[in-house]
Amino acid sequence: MKCPLCSINLQCSHIRTHKPKNARNGAQPNKGRCLNRNQIKQSYASATPPLPSILSHPMPSIPVIKGPDADAAYAAAQKVVETHQHLSKWIRPGMTLAQIDAEVARFLESINCRSCFYGYKVPKSPPFPSHACLSVNDCVVHGTAGYRREPLKQGDLLKVDIGVWHGRPNAWIGDAAWTYAIGEPTPAARRLMECGKESLARGVRELRPGNTYLAWARAVQNHVEKECGFFCVRGLGGHGIGRALHTPPYVANVVPTYNGEWPEASKACTPGTLIAVEPMIAVGTGDTYHNSLGRLDDWPVFTKDGSLSVHYEHDILITENGPRNLTEGLETIRDVIE
Ligand code: MF3
Ligand code: CO
Repeated sequence: MKCPLCSINLQCSHIRTHKPKNARNGAQPNKGRCLNRNQIKQSYASATPPLPSILSHPMPSIPVIKGPDADAAYAAAQKVVETHQHLSKWIRPGMTLAQIDAEVARFLESINCRSCFYGYKVPKSPPFPSHACLSVNDCVVHGTAGYRREPLKQGDLLKVDIGVWHGRPNAWIGDAAWTYAIGEPTPAARRLMECGKESLARGVRELRPGNTYLAWARAVQNHVEKECGFFCVRGLGGHGIGRALHTPPYVANVVPTYNGEWPEASKACTPGTLIAVEPMIAVGTGDTYHNSLGRLDDWPVFTKDGSLSVHYEHDILITENGPRNLTEGLETIRDVIE
């Protein structure tokens, strides 16, 4: 969904947090929404109280999932786990990303699924050209089958992100990422992987009624930055999921630093909300770069300093009793590929 005033895409995961063009420190007249010129004048003329909501466009509402829909979402999520399981045994050092992507396409077909990444469109980018996101070392997310020709070698960290459509006629989506070491990882790479898995586990525990999404981000960021000394990658985050790949809410991995940076931070974790949560962590910086010439291989996002990164993603249904991990099983797959 696009912001109609500034045309930034508001609800794509991994798509930057929406910093309104007219964001100002201190003043919060628009809660992260863009305003037209008259609205800006009005809002700053009276500073507080905030604008009535009819003047600014509301954030779209968060879908609620119940009963049999939860089973359908679970089935889709488990197809993703099955695919990871298969790949963890199938991938070998020396393989190329193109070979792995072709195997993802073949395997998904064999289990009655389709990639929901292939052909996915966001404004100003070409459709996503691969079946999986395959991202190596300093590539954090959105690696394509063609972005790197070099075969995988000992010491590489491969992030595999799989998204599927499953079930007819009303297909549901599952989306989960995991990081695999090619050969025995160095102690530093091992620490980074453990930090990623632990930050995901700690964050997930906070996704329960009575908490807001801020509790998730605080738990993840604390573990990564205070306890481990690594960096949460900025500007990318998780998302609602279900019948579409990206729905509200946006789920940042860091606590907001200016008013309006992350409007959903203060939203309650409500039973029935299904979200894909995905810490992205790097050794040396939280900053990223990517090419933006509109070419097919402009999708991959890299750490700005070239340092090593990891990515872990689960699909979590918030229930009365707390978080339910629909991608359960992913965390016990062997993550060293030999
Ligand atoms: N897990 C990623 C996400 O939620 C993968 C998206 S790849 C894309 O955004 F091509 F579909 F964008
Ligand atoms: Co995702």
